Amino acid sequence: MSNSISLLGLQWGDEGKGKVVDLLSKDIDAAVRYQGGHNAGHTLIIDGKEVVFHLLPSSICHKNIKCFLGRGVVISLEALFSEIDDAFEFIGDLKDRLVVSNAACLIQPYHKKIDQLRERSRSGTKIGTTGRGIGPAYEDRVGRRSIRVADLYDPNALKVKLEEALDIYNFLIKRHDEDQQEDLNELLDENLKQAERLKPFVGNVIAELKAFQESNKTILFEGAQGALLDYSLGTYPFVTSSNSSLGGIASGAGVSATSIDYSLGICKAYTTRVGEGPFPTELNDEIGSYLAEKGGEVGATTGRPRRCGWLDAVLLSHTVYLNGINGICLTKIDVLDGLEKIKICSDYSSSLSREDILESLALNDIEPQYIELEGWQEPTAGVQRFEDLNDKAIDFIAKVEELCGAPIVMISTGPRREDAIIRKYPL
Ligand code: IMP
Repeated sequence: MSNSISLLGLQWGDEGKGKVVDLLSKDIDAAVRYQGGHNAGHTLIIDGKEVVFHLLPSSICHKNIKCFLGRGVVISLEALFSEIDDAFEFIGDLKDRLVVSNAACLIQPYHKKIDQLRERSRSGTKIGTTGRGIGPAYEDRVGRRSIRVADLYDPNALKVKLEEALDIYNFLIKRHDEDQQEDLNELLDENLKQAERLKPFVGNVIAELKAFQESNKTILFEGAQGALLDYSLGTYPFVTSSNSSLGGIASGAGVSATSIDYSLGICKAYTTRVGEGPFPTELNDEIGSYLAEKGGEVGATTGRPRRCGWLDAVLLSHTVYLNGINGICLTKIDVLDGLEKIKICSDYSSSLSREDILESLALNDIEPQYIELEGWQEPTAGVQRFEDLNDKAIDFIAKVEELCGAPIVMISTGPRREDAIIRKYPL
């Protein structure tokens, strides 16, 4: 029996966390987002309609789950209100179900502007960000000059903070494009207007989560992005600006680092990546296009096509280790149906040792070494019992487990809720 469970992407994001939340939802009392912002994207089907949330946790569409945005999340109030409006239409009023930490940092319009201007002008290292101001907002957080939710309710202090911020940002913006300067009074008015609307949702996340823990209720810590995008442990500098690994939970939610009872990882049966950065097993051939098309691999936030490639078990075993993974949910195995051969990267050839490659994750000058498995023609799509999988798919699953060092406890075999095999229920 696990009371606190974390759900973490083990690759570069987009592993399909929403589906897993669906499968666990009946046993979850509270769900917490603790890092990232509206750079994430989960597509949910509610009453047959497609809704995309970026900031709210996937758990929001389950009425029995109370949802929290912890202090580690950077919040665009514009994005939040637009999602609350969508939720109102499809799910209902969130007033008693959503709590936003009064210590969370806000994304201001100047963060978004500078993110986009930098990406456009960057001559050397283009990161391929989502352009939503995530990086600059986290820079301010570390730089101890963020405007936090609580600051919205002290207009005088808010004005001073905005003035200080514009001192920096208008200078930076001017260097790129003079027309886009921000006006202090307009910005202050907008913040104060948003403050009113936010008020019913503002709360004390630490105290509420503590109460859930003390009454043995089940809390899900919903990761966003993936472990390889973690700014400390990922493929730096091609990363997001938060700790998307297990380590981000304690500081981003406000719980003890020892309070996670079960660490559930999620990975695709192949690999995808959006944005720039190294990707050793990337396929720029017809198999890559096949995976992209069959897997519907288009970014939910930016609409950009995702880069596709074989499963990389070297990286997977590393993220399994770093995140103390107790069990894995393997998603999109059905996308591999019909391929003649399937490859899994089991090693790299390089002048560096494997340990040194994983320490830096620069992933330069390496050549992936593959194990080649027979593909299967009998579909896994829609299979709901492990015994009903064909032998070749079972061999593939066993090989992934052997290479990455963690059991595969759930397998997703298609987009519908019922397209899933549960071998060992984590809760
Ligand atoms: P940022 O998070 O907007 O700063 O973007 C930094 C990098 O993280 C870019 O490569 C983005 O494409 C990637 N990224 C951010 N959020 C997600 C996500 O939810 N899924 C996949 N990639 C993401």
